[in-house]
This record gives sequence, structure tokens and C-alpha cells, in this order.
Amino acid sequence: MKYQPNRDYVSNDVVQTPLHLAKRIVDHFKPSGRILEPCRAGGHFHRYMPGAFWCEITDGRDFFDWNQPVDWIVTNPPWSQIRAFLQHSMKVADNIVFLMTVNHVWTKARIRDIYSAGFGLKEICLCEMPPEFPQSGFQLGAIYIAKGWRGQIKFSDVSVKTGTKRAPEYA
Ligand SMILES: C[S@@+](CC[C@H](N)C(=O)[O-])C[C@H]1O[C@@H](n2cnc3c(N)ncnc32)[C@H](O)[C@@H]1O
Repeated sequence: MKYQPNRDYVSNDVVQTPLHLAKRIVDHFKPSGRILEPCRAGGHFHRYMPGAFWCEITDGRDFFDWNQPVDWIVTNPPWSQIRAFLQHSMKVADNIVFLMTVNHVWTKARIRDIYSAGFGLKEICLCEMPPEFPQSGFQLGAIYIAKGWRGQIKFSDVSVKTGTKRAPEYA
């Protein structure tokens, strides 16, 4: 077990995505049209998606009550509810980007959910793990799931490498 990722970490559903990482993810995927941040917390993704619709349970807007169609959902969802969040996202959005550890998308149940809903895995974009996030040993990624996608999975990387100077626009 020595070389296994740590499965004893405490999941924390209320961590906020650092602004510089939210910006890099939005810059990378360039969502357009009707956009929804389904659990905005302090609005770190929302800041870079002006005009986007939003939900946040602590502000009285439950994502599971949202039923309007949108073109994009971009968020860091509560990791303890990823399956339910993804299932509901696929009912309302054509393009979904979830920031989460990449293992979250590899269970048979999740892959089955995605393909049986008529979606496909379009891109895995690696991101560095912010120190304030739960540290599990699994790689963090922005996972792009798109309606109707049956092509290859693109592999990309927006992480800021340790020891390299962060680009000024992301500092
Ligand atoms: C991991 S935090 C991420 C916040 C934000 N998306 C970000 O990236 O900084 C998850 C958020 O989901 C919210 N949340 C949990 N269940 C929800 C629900 N059913 N509807 C809306 N928001 C919810 C929590 O209150 C928390 O603020």
C-alpha cells in the first residue's frame, strides 16, 4: 500500500478554486453562449464568466432545482456529490467542465452515466493541485464532457510547474 494514493484524506466540499486557476481554466475552454456556474461559492469562476447564471446552495439557489438549458457549465463541484452533479449537469448543459481529480471520471459507473446520457469525454486538462485543496495523491484536472462527443480524448495541461515563474496574467 506504500505507493498507493492516500484514500484517507478528508474531502472538503467548500474549498474555493484559486482565482488564477479559475482564470486559466476559463481562458482555456472559452465557454460561450448561456453559461452556468452551478455552485459558485465566492464566485471565483463566475468572475471570469461575466453574465453567467449561477447557483449556490448557501445562497438559497440549489443546482438541483435548475432546469433551464445552458450551453456550458464550468465549475469545481462539491467532490462528495460529483456523480449527482454530473448527472444533473448532463440534463441541462451541452458542455461540462468539472475541476476534480482525474480518478473521479474513471469509475465504470461514471463512464456509463456519461455515454448512456449521450455525452462523451472530450478533454482532460491537467492542473496543479492548490495547497488548500484536499491532498489525495491523485492528479487534478479540468475534465471536459461534451454532448454527442464520440471522438478521441484530447490531453492538455494548464498547470503552472513548480519552480517556473507564473505568467504575469495569472499571478
Ligand atoms: C468545492 S466548492 C467550489 C466552489 C466554486 N465552484 C469554486 O470553484 O470556487 C463547492 C460548492 O458547492 C456548493 N454546493 C453544494 N451543494 C450544492 C447544490 N445542491 N447546489 C448549489 N451549490 C451547492 C457548496 O456550498 C460549495 O460552495
